[in-house]
Amino acid sequence: MPYAKIIGSGGYLPPRIVSNDDLAADLATRQIETSDTWIVERTGIRQRHIADPGMTTSQLATRAAQAALENAGIDAAQVDLIIVATSTPDFVFPSTACLVQDQLGASGGAAFDVQAVCSGFVYALSTADAFIQAGRANTALVIGAEVFSRILDWNDRSTCVLFGDGAGAVVLSAQDQPGILGAKLHADGSQSRILCAAGNVAHGKVVGDPFLRMDGQAVFKLAVTSLARSAHEVCDQAGVDFTHIDWLVPHQANVRIINFLGRRLGISEDKVVITVDQHANTSAASVPLALDVARRDGRIKSGDLVLMQGVGGGFTWGSVLSRM
Ligand code: ACO
Repeated sequence: MPYAKIIGSGGYLPPRIVSNDDLAADLATRQIETSDTWIVERTGIRQRHIADPGMTTSQLATRAAQAALENAGIDAAQVDLIIVATSTPDFVFPSTACLVQDQLGASGGAAFDVQAVCSGFVYALSTADAFIQAGRANTALVIGAEVFSRILDWNDRSTCVLFGDGAGAVVLSAQDQPGILGAKLHADGSQSRILCAAGNVAHGKVVGDPFLRMDGQAVFKLAVTSLARSAHEVCDQAGVDFTHIDWLVPHQANVRIINFLGRRLGISEDKVVITVDQHANTSAASVPLALDVARRDGRIKSGDLVLMQGVGGGFTWGSVLSRM
C-alpha cells in the first residue's frame, strides 16, 4: 500500500497589508473603537493581508499551488488530484478546485472542494491521503484558500479584526515510505451556531445573514479542549510517542488559543509554529501557510515529525501527523 508524502509546499498572500493601526483608523471613521493594544493582547494579531476586490480565491489558490509545485519540482501535468479547502469559493459552482485546475493547465484528474471552514486543510489533506493510500491518485495538490475579508461584517469589531486573506498548498506524492502516519477528523454539528455565516443565495437574493458570526468564548474553550484530545488521539492511532513530535503546526486563529494548547500538551514554545501575528486567521489557508513558512525558513526539515491541527466552524476539528 502506498503512503502519501508531502514533497513541496507554497503560499501566497495578497500584497495589501493592513496593520492593526490602519484597521483602527478605518473603523474610527465609522465611530467603531478598537486599538492595536486590544487586538495584540487578546489575539496576538499585528497585521493581516487583504485581497483587492478583483482577486478571487481561485487566483490566490493557483499562486500558492504554483509555488508548491515549483518547490516540489513537479509539473502541473503530473497532478491527478486537486482538493481545495475553502469556505469562500469563487462561485456556488463549479468548484474552486476546477477553476484552479484550469488556471494551472492541469486538466484530466479529479478536482473538488472541501468545506470544513478552519479545519478545511486537515480535512482535505486527510482525504488526499486516503486517495493515495487507496491507489486512486499519485500526485495530489491540497490547497487551503480564503478571502474571509468578504464575509466579515466590518462594523462588528469583535470579528472583523481577527481574519485575513491568503492561500497555502502542499504537493502530496505516492511513496514507499511514510509520509503521513495518521489522520483523525471530527465534527459536532450541534455546535454549528457558535461560528457561522448562516446565509445563502436563493432566487437571486441573499437569504439569511451572509456575515460571519461568532461566540468567541465558546469557540475558545471548544478549540483548546478538542485540539488537545485530537493530538493524543492521532499519535495513538499512528503508534507514535507524543513526545517525539518535532513541530506543532496548529490552526492560526489566536495566539492565546495556541499558547493554551501548547501548555496543555506540554509542548515547548520553540516547537510551535506561529504565523497568526503576521497573517491573522486565514481559515483553511492558515495551516498550509504556517507549514510553508516554517519549511522555507529551515525550521521544519526533512525527517521531522509534524503535527498539523485544524479547528473551526461546523464545529469541526482534526489532526494529521506527518513525517516530512
Ligand atoms: N476592540 C476593542 N474592544 C473590543 C473588540 C475590539 N476589536 N472586540 C470586542 N471588544 C470588547 C467587547 O465589546 C467587550 O467590551 P465590554 O466588556 O464593554 O462589553 C470586551 O472587549 C470583551 O469582549 P469579549 O468578547 O468578552 O472579549 P474576549 O476576551 O472573549 O476576546 C476574542 C474576544 C479575542 C474573540 C476571544 O473570545 C477569543 O479569542 N476567542 C476565540 C475565537 C477566535 O479566535 N476565533 C477565530 C475564528 S474561530 C477559529 O478559527 C477556530
